[in-house]
Order: sequence, then C-alpha cells, then structure tokens
Amino acid sequence: MEILDGKKLSDTIKMEISAQVEKMVSEGKKRPHLVAVLVGDDGASRTYVGHKEKACSQVGFDSEVMRFPESISEEELLSEIEKLNANDDVDGFIVQLPLPPHIDENKVIEAVDPSKDVDGFHPVNVGRSELGLPAFLPATPYGILTMIERYGIDTKGKSCVILGRSNIVGRPIANLLMRKAYPGDCTVTVCHSRTVNIEKYTKEADIIIAAIGIPEFLKGDVVKEGAVVIDVGTTRIERPDTKTGFKLVGDVAFDEVAPKCSYITPVPGGVGPMTIVSLLKNTLLAAEKKCM
Ligand code: GUN
Repeated sequence: MEILDGKKLSDTIKMEISAQVEKMVSEGKKRPHLVAVLVGDDGASRTYVGHKEKACSQVGFDSEVMRFPESISEEELLSEIEKLNANDDVDGFIVQLPLPPHIDENKVIEAVDPSKDVDGFHPVNVGRSELGLPAFLPATPYGILTMIERYGIDTKGKSCVILGRSNIVGRPIANLLMRKAYPGDCTVTVCHSRTVNIEKYTKEADIIIAAIGIPEFLKGDVVKEGAVVIDVGTTRIERPDTKTGFKLVGDVAFDEVAPKCSYITPVPGGVGPMTIVSLLKNTLLAAEKKCM
C-alpha cells in the first residue's frame, strides 16, 4: 500500500509554479493575480479561502480576498462580478460557494467571464471540457487527475466507481476519467444517494473516488484487494480538544480500507492540497491566456 501524498506533491508543484512566475516576471510580465470573493461568515469557506490566499503568496501570485456581508443583494454581487470581469489587472477569480439562500448560485456562476473562471464552473468551461476542448477544469477533479498522473497510476481499461454526482466533483471527474487519454480510458460508473446496492459496484472497482460527504462511508469489506482509493470527503467534526476546534474526516474508513489498497489518499493531506494547487495552475493558465 502506498499513500498518495497530496501535501508533498502539491509542495513540488508549487515550486514549479513559483519558478514559472519568476520567469514571467523576469520577462517583464506581471504576476498572475487571483481574487477570491467571500460572502458571509461560513467557517469552512473562510478556512478554504485562507488556504487559497496563503498558497498564492507562496508561489508569488498577487491575491486579494473581497469580503461581503451575508446581507449583500444578488444585484450588488452581480455588479461586483461585472467589475472583476472588466478589471484587466485580475487574471482569474472565484466566488466561494455556498452562497446565502437569497442569491441564485447559477446566476452568479454564469455572470463570471469564462476566460477568468478559474473554478471551471461556468457552463462554457463545463461544455468545453466535456467536448475535450481547452478549458478550465474544476480544481478538485484537476487535482485528482494530476495526482494519478504524477504517481503513474494505470487507468486504461480500469473500472472506476465514483460515489457522488455533484457538479463540482462527481460529474466532471466521471467525464475526465472516461476520456480517450491518460489519465482516462476508464469504464466509469457513477453511484449516488439513490443507487441500490452500492457495494455491488465498489466491490468490483479498480479505482474508487469517494465524494459523497458522508464521514467514513466506504468500509473495508466493500473494497477489492489492490484497489486505488481516492477520498474527496472533508467533513468537519467538532473536536474542542484540538487547536482549530475541529477535525477533518473523509468519506473513507481509512484504517479498514488502507490495508487492502494499492494506493490511497489520506484526509487531510490528500486531495485537499491538490485542489488548491490546481486552482493556482488554472490562474497561471488564465494569466498566460492558455485556455481560451
Ligand atoms: N466550495 C466548495 N468547493 C469549492 C470550490 O472549489 N470553489 C468554490 N468557489 N467554492 C467551493
């Protein structure tokens, strides 16, 4: 069993990005510039945005967080997005989700200029990626692909079971892993909350990607010997005895599943850091105008 060390790999990729940034600067170009829009006071969102900001400074990007109160109207938020679209100094921006219930997330996603949509959530990027055209890939699927690729994991003809059908993870990773490419060429099955007998699928899977947000959902007895298991789950469980006051728990019962695996990601330190580094890669692509 080998641990897929997302922390270590993301540190390596950050050094590569940092070198590219210094090269751009030495050629007289400006530093890539990422803006994160944060609405309200959701604890998890603040933490994620904080990680993104820190990662930007580590690789030499310019970055800012624009904070708005929970009470901002949809109209005001859309007008802030228009300003970011028009600001030539900003290469890419993200609007951290979830948004308060009075704001329509789809309207916000569609308001972002696709060429600055480094989250890869705009329908233009979703459609382009579905068709195999250059596009911003959403950060978590992009991070998973990079991890598979850098560890040299064989995917051709493998049966891949994805747990979860979200727009951010399940759907895009299913599409990417069935592409005629590497990583890809998998036979993909997507399981979700209405799937009957999920273990029937997981027991046969060569690769399992767990992205359903149920802590320790995937148990050892439903995983095949030698499987590759990628855990996207990050549920925050309150733990007053820890420094942060919470503990991150994945969708995989790690202690039971790990002994059966050829490769497995830990939580934390697996997919999470790969997601952040993929957002940096998208921002670099946006700055270099490589996606559209
Ligand atoms: N909320 C949870 N994951 C994400 C993400 O990747 N991007 C944004 N903008 N919001 C999120």
